[in-house]
Formats: sequence, structure tokens, C-alpha cells
Amino acid sequence: ILANLFYDVATRTSSSFTAAMERLGGSVIPINEVRYSSVSKGESLPDTVRTLECYADVVVLRHPEVGSAALAAKYAKKPVINAGDGIGEHPTQALLDSFTIKEELGHIDGLTITMLGDLKYGRTVHSLSRLLSLYKAKLNYVSPEILRMPPEIIDELSVKGVEQAEFNTIAPVLSETDVLYVTRVQKERFADLADYESVAKAYVIDPEIMRSAKDRMIVMHPLPRVTEISLEFDEDPRAAYFRQMEYGLYVRM
Ligand code: NCD
Repeated sequence: ILANLFYDVATRTSSSFTAAMERLGGSVIPINEVRYSSVSKGESLPDTVRTLECYADVVVLRHPEVGSAALAAKYAKKPVINAGDGIGEHPTQALLDSFTIKEELGHIDGLTITMLGDLKYGRTVHSLSRLLSLYKAKLNYVSPEILRMPPEIIDELSVKGVEQAEFNTIAPVLSETDVLYVTRVQKERFADLADYESVAKAYVIDPEIMRSAKDRMIVMHPLPRVTEISLEFDEDPRAAYFRQMEYGLYVRM
């Protein structure tokens, strides 16, 4: 029995964990609307987790605060899976992302992987870059100045000897890219809406731009997409994001 505890919005992550558990013959206690649970009475996260583990064998947690999953795990006796802690990490997404790369391109070592968009607030790229540091991949980070990959992550990967480079535009790196990992600008993380507006449409991947990319490469996106990949690109065989979403089910199983 899996307790699916979501304090924050989700579609794919929540429903894929449910589908994964049910396909394996288990069942799920879904807690999607914490306002209908005792959390709205002021219950703390450690108490909520200690309650759910009385009834479930494993807890999946999505929470708006960085470190929430680690806090829950500290108090829980049963396994806690981090399904996204604010702008922190999204480790199961990184697992399904690396699975996608292997499934689609056969290997990870030796590839050039370009992460594009909101590298500051996008937790998927924080977890994915750390996971990729276990391989011999080259990482490019393309973002507006205010959305750069956090320096502590770049430093952490440098110490491990990962080759990394930062850019403001995609042009210098697109033709060498094997995996283009596009992310959504995380509107909900901006304190000032004007800042969001200034970068919201910084990059749009469309068939025209993709003419200068390799024939054998893939475009990934954790989804949901807003405007950063045009709908016209979806029919391109290199568009791997819908396949990536399905791999997420198998990885979570
Ligand atoms: C991502 C997330 O929640 O971090 N979505 C997902 O889990 N597939 C990406 C996003 O919200 O932009």
C-alpha cells in the first residue's frame, strides 16, 4: 500500500505513481488535496507522515519546501520517496530521464546533454545533472542570466570532473547536442511577475530552429510545457517527451 501524499500540484508524477502501484497489484491511499486532510488543522509534516506509515508500506511525498522529503524521512520508519521538494530535487524524474536517454540513444557516456530554460528553479535539472555526473556526459546549460544553474551544483559537479559550460543562447551548442532537455520557466517561483514576463518566452524550440540539430538526437521535457516547445515540433521523431512520460510509469513501477 502506497500513500501518495501531495501538498503541491502534480498530474504526471501523482498519477504515474498510482498507476505504477496498481499495475504491480498494490493499492494507493491518495492524498492530493491536503486541505481536506488534517494538514489543514495544523498537523506537522512529521506527524502526517508518521500517521500514514501506520497504514501504508511506502510514502511518496511532493511538498513545496526544499528539504521536506528529508525531514519526512528522518521521522518515518517506512521508505519515503521524494516526488519533488520545492525547487530542490526530483529524483524519480531524474531516474526516468536517464532511462529515457538510454532507451532512446542506447547509452549516456560520451553524449552532449544541453539543459535549456529555467535551470534555477527547475528541480528536474538539479537532480538530473547530479545523476548524470555518474556518467561521462558533457553538460551545457542554456538559460537567461537570472535563471542560471545554481553555482553550488556547478561546483559539486566540477569537483567530480564533469565537463560543463554555460550559455545565454542555444545557437552555439545546438548542432553538437545529443539530448536537448527543455524546461518550463517556473512561474509559481517568481516573487515579481515582471521578472517572469521578462524571461517567459526566452526560448522556443520549433521545427525551424531544429533544422540545425542532428538527425539522431532527442528533445526531452519533464512536462507540463507552456510555450517553450512549439506544438508543430511534436510530430518530429526527435520529440521524445511523450515517450519519456510513458517511461516514467515503468521506472516508477
Ligand atoms: C516537473 C516538476 O513538477 O518539477 N514536472 C513533473 O514532475 N513532470 C516540471 C515542471 O513542473 O515544470
